[in-house]
Amino acid sequence: MSNLAAVILAAGKGTRMKSERAKVLHAIAGQALLFYPLQVARAAGCGQVSFVVGHQGDEVVEALSDQQVDCVWQHEQLGTGHALLCAAEKFSGFSGDLLLLCGDVPLLTTESVQRLLDLHRREEAAVTVLTARLANPHGYGRIVRDGENVRRIVEEKDASPAERAICEINTGTYVFDADFVFSILPGLGKENVQGEYYLTDVVAAAAAAGRKARAVCLLDPNEALGINDRVQLAEASRLMRQRINQRLMLGGVTLVDPETTYVDQQVEIGSDSLLHPGVTLTGKTRIGQHCVIESGVQVDSSNIADHVHLKSGSVLEGALVGENCNIGPMAHLRPGTELLGHNKIGNFVETKKARLGENSQASHLTYIGDAEVGRNVNFGCGTITCNYDGANKHKTIVEDDVFVGSDTQFIAPVRIGRNSLIAAGSTITKDVPADSLALSRTPQKVIEGWRIKHPLQKKK
Ligand code: UD1
Ligand code: MG
Repeated sequence: MSNLAAVILAAGKGTRMKSERAKVLHAIAGQALLFYPLQVARAAGCGQVSFVVGHQGDEVVEALSDQQVDCVWQHEQLGTGHALLCAAEKFSGFSGDLLLLCGDVPLLTTESVQRLLDLHRREEAAVTVLTARLANPHGYGRIVRDGENVRRIVEEKDASPAERAICEINTGTYVFDADFVFSILPGLGKENVQGEYYLTDVVAAAAAAGRKARAVCLLDPNEALGINDRVQLAEASRLMRQRINQRLMLGGVTLVDPETTYVDQQVEIGSDSLLHPGVTLTGKTRIGQHCVIESGVQVDSSNIADHVHLKSGSVLEGALVGENCNIGPMAHLRPGTELLGHNKIGNFVETKKARLGENSQASHLTYIGDAEVGRNVNFGCGTITCNYDGANKHKTIVEDDVFVGSDTQFIAPVRIGRNSLIAAGSTITKDVPADSLALSRTPQKVIEGWRIKHPLQKKK
């Protein structure tokens, strides 16, 4: 068993979010806030991870259901000290370092936590607190030092004017000697302005017990940003986006304007790909190498191979796009679209549950849904698979080398044999055998001289 464990506090009310959703379930860069400290805990090597839940706790427990973490309930929010005490039972057999993180502090990095752990272990401290130096420390607990020793942490509301002038603040992240902290917590009082059990009082208790309390100061104070309202949520999003975009650029991706490029946490992009301004990539999206993504493109949970060009305004959801495809402008690839490579899906074309073999294309104004399409198929402008009869969906199968003339409707279910030609303007209701011509146009009628006998009469 690892001798490092973590507790993540997530029971607080989040009143200032003014939301029906639990605060820690609000997302930045496509991921709920509480997953960020969880990732840090895991990356730092924590075996056991416990979340303290309370306010809107059912939702939080549900969100964590497949994460292999414990959830412990704090039914009344009596303070941060009480919150950790609620998890004590889960650690009854545990001796080692206990990392305490807040569920609403998403920018904290594993590197900073590693620095915290390193100092804590080197010093054999009872508690080591992660601090930050802020130009405006308003609202935070202040670090009262005595050289490298931390004497106590005083909350703003309890601080003297001299203590309020201290700019080094408590980020709310700590490592504790687990045996020590769980022996101290039950004896904590709540003789303070807020009448709460303060976890920060553990620091003064360490000094009283002749144990060391130490501090590690963040190199980048932004990591301490806690989310209490939507303004801070937007600020954290912006900082996270900067971090993601920097990682992409250093990995060989060109971002024409990083300020307006929105890429979620989990997205991967290959080198030498280029993103124009206003691109949004979300979910588990993977983009290959040498791709060009133009402005206004949105890609969600899709897999895009190398050398793909996504043109302006296209929307891709749950799509698989093979190598050397050309998509858009203004194309909509809906879930279940599979393009096997060298495909062109052009202006105002919509696809859904459609698999197109290599080199097949639909360049303009077309709907391909519930379809299986072979190689080298050309759909003319305005082709429609009529897949829905009002009750059920039906399939259109188009074999290799078929040429579909413009303004064709396929009334599914229907199968078009290989190397056939569908004449423009046809409504295809029956299967077409291979190598055939199918046409269903009404023969054109011409009545000569008709307009002379029927001149236009303007209404008065
Ligand atoms: C706390 C610290 C303060 C520090 C600040 C950093 C204490 C007494 N003070 O203050 O020194 O500068 O964080 O942001 O710890 N929570 C619970 N149960 C509770 C109370 C809080 O789970 O009963 C959770 C909250 O959901 C939140 C975290 O603990 O994730 C911090 O609580 P919060 O009320 O924001 O503490 P602060 O007053 O900001
Ligand atoms: Mg707070």
